[in-house]
Amino acid sequence: MTTEARPTSGVSRTAVIIAQARATEDARTDRLFTDPYAQSFVDAVGWIQVAEAGRLNQGHFVLRTRFFDDYFRAAAQAGCRQAVLVAAGLDTRAFRLEWPAGFRLFEIDLPGLLAFKEAVLGVREASPSCDRKTVRADLREDWPAALLAAGFDPEQPTAWLVEGLMMYLEPADNDRLVDRIGKLSAPGSRLAIEHINQAYTELPQLKAVHARLRRVGAAWRSTIEDPCAWLGAHGWTATVVPQTELAARHGRPVPELTDPARVGSARMWLAEAVRSAPEVSAAPGRA
Ligand SMILES: C[S@@+](CC[C@H](N)C(=O)[O-])C[C@H]1O[C@@H](n2cnc3c(N)ncnc32)[C@H](O)[C@@H]1O
Repeated sequence: MTTEARPTSGVSRTAVIIAQARATEDARTDRLFTDPYAQSFVDAVGWIQVAEAGRLNQGHFVLRTRFFDDYFRAAAQAGCRQAVLVAAGLDTRAFRLEWPAGFRLFEIDLPGLLAFKEAVLGVREASPSCDRKTVRADLREDWPAALLAAGFDPEQPTAWLVEGLMMYLEPADNDRLVDRIGKLSAPGSRLAIEHINQAYTELPQLKAVHARLRRVGAAWRSTIEDPCAWLGAHGWTATVVPQTELAARHGRPVPELTDPARVGSARMWLAEAVRSAPEVSAAPGRA
């Protein structure tokens, strides 16, 4: 594998850390999901040592993965036949979930990350269980054009996922991102996101994490205090699902840094939403 194809620096390195969490979960007999490719990504780069808080977040990464797996299952069951992983990273849902016939799944991420991902999946001879397309784009730029060029159909309801991205973007970039998603969302579309609030960034347990993220050029740049109000202003009716509820649902301990009893008002938001605004007509490629 070429050096260029390795996400060893920058924000794409964070995708490897999430793959490590999924590989660790996949090795458990009582796993909440399987990910047969996560360990291959980790092996290709080498295990990245994470700060103590990274270890404390393992439970959150696992619950969030299962939460968004279930989100996609519900969307497909409701008739949705198109999904977009916004900042897909080393997510392998296109391979490890069962999708209805004809389901199309688009993965958007930076070119270097996707080159690495394709190289590892190629070695594993991985075959997707849906019609999978990768879109190499910077999500701060004109990614809708690239998505449409890849065959995305804005007339079809879409299940969007923005997992592990928003904290790395500036607030204005997130506003633009959600606006663009809205313009590409036919009635019946769904959106799921993860984000954090300001109190979460101020947790003393995260001091070492911040230092490491800054060192690799992946500092957190934004927070949100009320995800439902924010998404509501962008035309989505949203619900936040607390980790306490997910932990109870799956018989797991509440992840330490998401437990209100320990972290007070600090939050790592997991939210899912349905399109509530009337159809927007300003989408690129639409009348
Ligand atoms: C923490 S990882 C999360 C990946 C994946 N969603 C997951 O949960 O496994 C963050 C991802 O965001 C991508 N990313 C960050 N900034 C980006 C940008 N401006 N444009 C496209 N992708 C970006 C990185 O390359 C990386 O894959």
